[in-house]
Amino acid sequence: MQNGSAPQPKVAVIGAGSMGTGIAALCASAGMEVVLLDQDADAAARGVETQLKRGGFYLEEDAARISTGSDYALLEDCDWIIEAIFEDLSAKHSLYTAIEAHLSPTAIVSSNTSTLPLSALVEGVAPTRRERFAITHFFNPPKVMPLVELVVNSSTDETSTTADTLRRIIEVDLGKTALPCRDTPGFIANRVGCYWLACGVFRAREFDIDYALADAAFGRAFGIPRTGIFGLLDYIGLQLVAPIWNSLENALDPGDRMFSVPLGTDEFIAELVKRGHTGRSAGSGGKVSEGFYRGRDEVIGADFNYVARKSPEDPVIGLKDPREVMSTDSPGGRFARALFLNTLSYCCEVAPEIAEHVGLIDEGFRLGFGWKKGIFELADEIGLDWLITAYDTPPQLLVDAAAAGGFYPEGKVLSSSGEPLTPEVSAGVVTLATVREKAHTLLTSPAGALHLLDNNVAILDFHTPLNSLSNEAIALIHSTLDAIEPHAIAALVIGNDKPVFSAGADLPSLAAAAESASATEISAVLNAGSQALLGLKYCPIPVIGAVRGVALGGGFEMALACDRLVLHADARLAFPELNVGLYPGWTGTVALLSRLRAAGVSNAHQRAFNFITATRPAPNAFAARRDGLLRPTDVVLLSFDRILARALEEAAALAADYTPPADEFLPLYSGPALDREWPLENTTANDHAIAAQLARMYTGTGELTFRQFAEREVAFDVPLLLMPANVERALHMARTRKPLHN
Ligand code: NAI
Repeated sequence: MQNGSAPQPKVAVIGAGSMGTGIAALCASAGMEVVLLDQDADAAARGVETQLKRGGFYLEEDAARISTGSDYALLEDCDWIIEAIFEDLSAKHSLYTAIEAHLSPTAIVSSNTSTLPLSALVEGVAPTRRERFAITHFFNPPKVMPLVELVVNSSTDETSTTADTLRRIIEVDLGKTALPCRDTPGFIANRVGCYWLACGVFRAREFDIDYALADAAFGRAFGIPRTGIFGLLDYIGLQLVAPIWNSLENALDPGDRMFSVPLGTDEFIAELVKRGHTGRSAGSGGKVSEGFYRGRDEVIGADFNYVARKSPEDPVIGLKDPREVMSTDSPGGRFARALFLNTLSYCCEVAPEIAEHVGLIDEGFRLGFGWKKGIFELADEIGLDWLITAYDTPPQLLVDAAAAGGFYPEGKVLSSSGEPLTPEVSAGVVTLATVREKAHTLLTSPAGALHLLDNNVAILDFHTPLNSLSNEAIALIHSTLDAIEPHAIAALVIGNDKPVFSAGADLPSLAAAAESASATEISAVLNAGSQALLGLKYCPIPVIGAVRGVALGGGFEMALACDRLVLHADARLAFPELNVGLYPGWTGTVALLSRLRAAGVSNAHQRAFNFITATRPAPNAFAARRDGLLRPTDVVLLSFDRILARALEEAAALAADYTPPADEFLPLYSGPALDREWPLENTTANDHAIAAQLARMYTGTGELTFRQFAEREVAFDVPLLLMPANVERALHMARTRKPLHN
């Protein structure tokens, strides 16, 4: 599945609860053979079914890689055993004893515990296994959450091999970030995240502000997800608050500041749970979620009755700058200020205990709690001098950071003891920012740049918003093609460090062409893109697309023009052109047809037509490859951070022996009308007009070369953008970024 990476481990997961089955599904999606065991023999098989229903697999057929059962003899040839049974130390100890005789001597065992210390877990592990025993703490749900906290036993050689092996599997094969943690309560993410949440609850009460205002005040300006604090507690499930916080508190030193915000023994939350208001978990079976909030529109009062949620009124609402929020003398401003300052000082205090440097704590907030930036990154942005004056007694690490030039002074990161460190880059990760330093920049334009590396592989790097293909960007593609020969470029990679490949054609240019009501202008816009992508497809060197995030419309067409793609599994490939009033006009309809035919898909015209006119969500990259939209040689990786590195490797490999594709012949379609199922539900007459024109474009007799087909694609597309309803679509999309379903 992972095309050509190191051999993958055979994995066993013990405990087929929500975490165990999710981890098993993730490993199977990564191509690993998985054994899923539970003491209840049917639980494992049921767990696989549940994951299939919940979308835990990238492809349904991945489930076939999981064998289920309850017999420990199945562990014999497994390389990595992940224990995910109940959070009970003695149950875990008994299990480790029971499985030991069935394990290969080199197998690594890890626990998914969220609260038990490694030092206590290993007491139940055979002495010979202890060096190959670790904690790998996945977050829920494992497929979606990008973080795995990793705690290894000690620092002997054998252990660092264990750490290296686990880190490689977690990062390279599973595409997660392995956060190196110490054996401390709650590791990193839950230690600081639980403090933040608890502090949020207590400060909101102290400042007497309602939940909606609290969630808004310490919200967007700080880059916190929309759920906010109370929404997140509802999401976690209020019945879990006492177990999580109590277990954390039990493990902490009595002097820890977590005890100043004792959420585990909170009476209000206990009463909510008693009344069944447990948040999201109360909302199963068609009932709305009921916790601090009921659904979206109600909020609980002090008397435990729900009242309509009022839009919060406070001067901080709508402010975008966190420092402005914290400087506002209003209930919302004072709350946000206290919560930020408390959380930052807690993180400064515990940093030396829990993490080597502050960057790891920031990753805990970002990857574990969905913050856009971690607390220390925010502090740098807010201004350390300002923050120092905001405290009566500023935390020492903050003072050290100010003296060092920030928590992230010039490409470095502050260690927990206050010295700047050069952050370690995970093995196999390449960023454009780092390779560019050694590269020779051949071209620059307002839309981007072309960099040439030592091995003559060039990188085309768009600087437009979301790498969209403006007129200048198209011009840059043409100048790139012109630079191939004079600069002896051997291969081209399209990609950069942004989390998107390309959002497609530049909407204002397209809308302007539509508004001109001139067939010549519309055709010029379509032809410019079409010619550029034909140029990429037929140029004398291999072109490799490094695709992560969205490849939409013209962006997807650019991907299809590449000889090879390296894609992140969650890349979103789609043709939203109908929303702009046309069908894809930059070779996309032809490239799709060509790829589906090459994949041996029967009725390729119909499949291409259906894909382009579909309203269903875009497939993930694994599904796109299975369905013939991508080639079998296109590489799909779970690791978002390794896409560019792999694309560069593929480029160098392909460059060694490359022949550009010859122009191919593609048949026109001659069967029952491609749009015979139309109108589809929830489509308008205008949608149908576009679909019908696409059907006409594909239909005829005989065959055309790829290039002729591309000309036909443009010729049939132009009249669509002359239709007033489609002009309206294009203009609406360009102005509002939202589709108009006229
Ligand atoms: P769960 O309660 O949903 O499932 C546990 C499963 O283990 C059950 O199916 C049970 O039959 C099985 N089991 C218990 N003892 C066993 C044994 N001796 N041999 C074989 N199977 C056995 O548990 P959940 O929530 O999936 O948690 C598992 C572990 O992951 C715990 O250590 C928990 O702290 C940790 N964790 C849980 C998270 C969550 O959000 N639920 C998040 C991160 C970690």
